Amino acid sequence: MRKLLTAILLLALLISSAMAEEAEPRVLVAYLSRAGENYNVGEAREGSASAAYAGYIEKGNTAMMAAVIAELTGGDLFEIQTATPYPEDYASMLQVAQEEIDTDARPELAAHVENMADYDVIFIGYPIWHGQMPQAIYSFIEAYDLTGKTVIPFNTHEGSGQSGTQRVIEAALPGSNVLQGLAIRGKVAQEDPEQTRSLIEPWLEGMNMKRANAGSEAEVLATYQAIQQAMFDKDIETLDRLYQDGTTFTHMSGKVQTKAEFFGEIADGTLNYFAYDIHDPQIAVDGDEASLTASVTLTAKVYGASGSWTLPVNAHFTKINGQWIAHN
Ligand SMILES: Cc1cc2nc3c(=O)[nH]c(=O)nc-3n(C[C@H](O)[C@H](O)[C@H](O)COP(=O)(O)O)c2cc1C
Repeated sequence: MRKLLTAILLLALLISSAMAEEAEPRVLVAYLSRAGENYNVGEAREGSASAAYAGYIEKGNTAMMAAVIAELTGGDLFEIQTATPYPEDYASMLQVAQEEIDTDARPELAAHVENMADYDVIFIGYPIWHGQMPQAIYSFIEAYDLTGKTVIPFNTHEGSGQSGTQRVIEAALPGSNVLQGLAIRGKVAQEDPEQTRSLIEPWLEGMNMKRANAGSEAEVLATYQAIQQAMFDKDIETLDRLYQDGTTFTHMSGKVQTKAEFFGEIADGTLNYFAYDIHDPQIAVDGDEASLTASVTLTAKVYGASGSWTLPVNAHFTKINGQWIAHN
């Protein structure tokens, strides 16, 4: 049993520093977006009346844009959903949107942001429907007191650009500091992540909204995931490259293993890792130094015993020649 526990804890690098406190503005990225059939994107569906010009997508175009904004600003994502879901079928959606405009509707929303007071900056994202923002965006902005907050619109479209929605939002929120929004073609947001990012990054930088370490945080997480993958694959070469020489792996018993000992037991089948779920990773970057804390659920077969365990991890990294390397 002791061997088993110590083997599990071989995974955890030495526990130490706490997360750095952040002084940056707290950012919310709220967006409305439809998966399903849409114009000029996705695969046509057999039997669909609108298949000649509309294809099926799993994730909406504005949702794609929102994810990049959240990553680069460190913001929280919130999907604005109506209590009655919108139709997946494109032709029906055209009708529903037109009816909402004609009646100046305020569709009921499925959920609200409980802690709106905590946010300083609210990005509001939406598609253009019939030259306008969806009526549900009015439902959203009218549900909160956004006085004194910075509000930044963003949208996707297939030719209409912002279509005057910047002014509409400014007029609806006279007490907010509404900054210049960004419009991206839905097809670009859906199909060209590089171009999407290259449009969003300078826009965020121009408003001083890009978190200095946003890219680094994603790199650190990717490095940590690469280490997990190499453990499953028994890819010792990659493990050796991503762990700094001299790194030690500390057992719960206090026993310390070297890289060679740890990797040797992975290679010879003593330690076998199958799945590794990382929950709520928190990454702090300070120049070329970074730490990652997370709770991880590990499925493994070690010393002949199989099981699944959840344990805290605190890993440290240094950037060397452009690559994040793990160490104690
Ligand atoms: C009901 C409806 C009306 C639309 N009207 C317009 C329009 O007037 N101008 C435009 O450029 N695109 C229009 N589009 C295209 C969408 O703005 C575009 O596909 C957008 O990226 C969809 O975003 P989403 O996937 O996040 O919902 C319309 C799409 C739908 C479904």
